[in-house]
Amino acid sequence: MSVPREIGIGLISVGWMGQLHSRAYANLPIVYPELGIKPRLVQAADTAADRVDYAINALGYESGTDDYREVLANPEIDVVSICAPNFLHAEIAEAAARAGKAFWIEKPAGRSAAETQGIADAAAEAGVATAVGFNYRSAPAIEYARQLVAEGTLGRITNVRGAFFADYSSEPNGALSWRFIRKLAGTGVLGDLMGHLVDLAHYVVGPIDKITAATSTVYTERPELPMGTGTHFAVVENGKMLPVENEDYASMLVSFGDDAQGAGAVGTLEASRVAVGPRAQYGLEVYGTEGSLRWNFERLNELELALGRSGPHVGYTTVLANSHFGDFARFQPGAGTPMGYDDLKVIEAKKFLTAFLGRESVHADIRDALAAQRVVSAAEASATDRSWQDIAPVAGTSAARKTEEGGRD
Ligand SMILES: NC(=O)c1ccc[n+]([C@@H]2O[C@H](COP(=O)([O-])OP(=O)(O)OC[C@H]3O[C@@H](n4cnc5c(N)ncnc54)[C@H](O)[C@@H]3O)[C@@H](O)[C@H]2O)c1
Repeated sequence: MSVPREIGIGLISVGWMGQLHSRAYANLPIVYPELGIKPRLVQAADTAADRVDYAINALGYESGTDDYREVLANPEIDVVSICAPNFLHAEIAEAAARAGKAFWIEKPAGRSAAETQGIADAAAEAGVATAVGFNYRSAPAIEYARQLVAEGTLGRITNVRGAFFADYSSEPNGALSWRFIRKLAGTGVLGDLMGHLVDLAHYVVGPIDKITAATSTVYTERPELPMGTGTHFAVVENGKMLPVENEDYASMLVSFGDDAQGAGAVGTLEASRVAVGPRAQYGLEVYGTEGSLRWNFERLNELELALGRSGPHVGYTTVLANSHFGDFARFQPGAGTPMGYDDLKVIEAKKFLTAFLGRESVHADIRDALAAQRVVSAAEASATDRSWQDIAPVAGTSAARKTEEGGRD
């Protein structure tokens, strides 16, 4: 094997996602040795000093800083992971593009469609590769679902049902992290979970062209939590109560455009961060004239499939992820031994660094983030006036399209 190409990595923010990106970079050459890529963890930035220490001492970064600008100015760094809270995304991503650094940004890229457009424009102008943390599309069962829809195995797609239901804020004293404050997060569950679901629907079925939405806030006050402490699962007893500024639950009626693989299909998409029962039940169901499929993140390695309308086996069969499904075989030698959430980020890191090297990669980039965010921002508008909203198409996404499987028009 030739000497691997070293890629200098900069990390901005060392919270849950920053740590996960770092583990993904570390695992990439082990899981995909043939790519000849060797990520080098150069520098990490966080305003919380203990997280910088963790980045150096546990994750293995060579240096740390409390100022992300140092990471962007570091000539040893080729690409950056932007894992900061949402309010910093546009500022950091646009600065990264201006500095000529490719970036892998966590979702939602911008807090609104306008902000995401600004990031997309900056990346296009600088000509830097981008990736967005829509990790669920890399689940092997989802990759296979996309393939089944594209091959027509389910027949004509008639309807889609998706629900991303989490309980991370179901506790009334769940902390008021940055996620609940409008200027820090933008929307609530719409940007946090609905964006993921919209991306899955785009990736498997095709671009959404119209929506109408309703939202609600179940808990209107929560105890405050200082930035950089705890997680968004934290519960604070007897804390100072402050207002929740965005929605806990959202639902949408959607239709898919003429160019979608599932052209003419309609459906419902819902998201909640306060569900009691589902833990991280992130599900997508696709129904067609010849069959249907359903997947749920809590059962990451299972795809439920129903093919055909008659015969003794009509109805759902559970197929365990196996070597025919996406990158499953990279992680486990045989079906039945499950992959995990962290593995999805290793796949995402592979797609990002492959794109950075100018090699072919069908992955979520900033255009896909813009497409999802247009739906999210339209849902926000629709929820206030109950209108139907047209979604302007975004060129060059990896949404499932009728004519060219794999998108990228
Ligand atoms: N893809 C997914 O499934 C997924 C899951 C969770 C979070 N996310 C996204 O990842 C992003 C980060 O979320 P998280 O859960 O890791 O958050 P977190 O709260 O765990 O971490 C955020 C970190 O940012 C740091 N920070 C704050 N201000 C900073 C600044 N000015 N410069 C540098 N660092 C700063 C904080 O100190 C903290 O360490 C968000 O955009 C979120 O929506 C994506």
